[in-house]
Amino acid sequence: MPSLLSLLVDPGAPPYLEMFLFLGATVLMLVLVVLAARKGKRRLHLGLALGTLPVLYGAIHYAGAMDAYWNFPKVPLRIHLSFAITATVLVFVVALSGFMHFMGWVPKKFHSRLAWIFLGFVLLASLTGGWIFLVGEPK
Ligand code: HEM
Repeated sequence: MPSLLSLLVDPGAPPYLEMFLFLGATVLMLVLVVLAARKGKRRLHLGLALGTLPVLYGAIHYAGAMDAYWNFPKVPLRIHLSFAITATVLVFVVALSGFMHFMGWVPKKFHSRLAWIFLGFVLLASLTGGWIFLVGEPK
């Protein structure tokens, strides 16, 4: 059985390290986005929110690459993808509502409610993302 380290550094191995780094960075960025908003630091909030997008893209890219290395059972995978795709669509809805709030077109509650719904889907996508690995098996 290969050691965890060899799994992480072997060039032919699945990109687990990249996937976990990008997923962890996405969650960290989202926490910082919310903290900056809570403190009323609008510029920082906006910069971090926009910076989250390429990091999220990286996470999706490496998570998607897992398909070549793992067999995920159909139903759990569908459940996970429902949450993950909804969260990805919602990030743009939240960004749009943030812009609308910035312009003074909608109240802060409108943007923050959507943001919390989005974060709920991120949580569900993360939990079910871990679950599909537990019920799946390497190819
Ligand atoms: C991942 C995307 C985003 C998340 C998760 C998010 C989350 C939040 C949350 C939770 C709040 C409310 C904070 C509180 O209760 O005080 C907030 C406030 C705000 N957001 Fe966002 N946001 C995002 C993107 C954006 C974007 C793209 C913009 C602008 C174009 C934006 C503009 C604002 C503004 C102006 C406020 C009010 C800050 C203040 O109180 O001065 N947000 N955001």
